Amino acid sequence: MAASLYQPASHARIVGLRHDLDLSGEQLKAALELAQHVKQSRQRYASALKGRYLTLLFEKPSLRTRMTFELAIKQLGGDCITQTGMIGDREPLKDVARNLARWTDAIVARTFTQETVDELARWSGIPVINALSDLYHPCQALADMLTLKQQFGKLKGLKLAYVGDGNNVAHSLLLACSRLGVSCSVATPNGFEPNASIVAQAEQFAAATGAQIEITNDPVEAVQSAHAVYTDVWASMGQEAEAEERKRVFANYQVNDSLMAHARHDAVFMHCLPAKRGLEVTDHVMESAQCVAFDQAENRLHVQKALLLMLLQ
Ligand code: CP
Ligand code: NVA
Repeated sequence: MAASLYQPASHARIVGLRHDLDLSGEQLKAALELAQHVKQSRQRYASALKGRYLTLLFEKPSLRTRMTFELAIKQLGGDCITQTGMIGDREPLKDVARNLARWTDAIVARTFTQETVDELARWSGIPVINALSDLYHPCQALADMLTLKQQFGKLKGLKLAYVGDGNNVAHSLLLACSRLGVSCSVATPNGFEPNASIVAQAEQFAAATGAQIEITNDPVEAVQSAHAVYTDVWASMGQEAEAEERKRVFANYQVNDSLMAHARHDAVFMHCLPAKRGLEVTDHVMESAQCVAFDQAENRLHVQKALLLMLLQ
């Protein structure tokens, strides 16, 4: 049985996922294929990571990311220990990193700053997976691409419209879509556009894959002929103090029935969750047949198993 297990080809082995670009375009496609395979053959992988241990670090709350990483490693036969709280408060981050490397095989970290993820990787010398930072949410984007592929049977040629804050989720979507040939239109209020250098990177990838990247302040323009309409909270974790002001600034960026009507008739609604009903999305859209947010959540488990196999097997 062991012989039939997936063995990553050398080009599909990864050394970590500090940010989206730690996966090449080919590795991104390989991860999606492996995720589908592992989903269909769960029992075959029940001992794939026997004897491997992960550290999970969370500076911010989590339901999906924590649950799906813990489940993924356990369902693959490995184990993990989860720590919550600020990293580097009690002792220097570089000391924390070197301790963890003595005990465990890889680190999954949800941090306030991207710098913390990068420093953990630098000082530990073991693979680090970004479980959300201020700049990126690569595991989410992978699950989202798998969800789109399952919905439409392909990725190349699709159009995803992201409406809301130009945040970590928007950045990872831009980098995933552009490399997989999915056009990506992002509509934000003025001053809340995605990071310009990430947009420039996405535009370069898109030029090679034939995708279109559009950054606009007009949500109706963004969702025209979109296969998927995606939104996220207006105030991310750590921005709670700005929440009231953001409600005012983002008021015209709600995904509701009238905005969805501008997308394709078979468009899906996507949300990384948690959702704030009545703000970035209406309850009606969340509860509609178009909503695939819970498929996205399920797919976090499958894509993270694929990542762990490409990293540790
Ligand atoms: N989508 C997501 O990352 O959810 P959590 O914040 O619950 O992990
Ligand atoms: N942009 C959100 C995503 C939560 C999964 C945040 O950073 O809080």
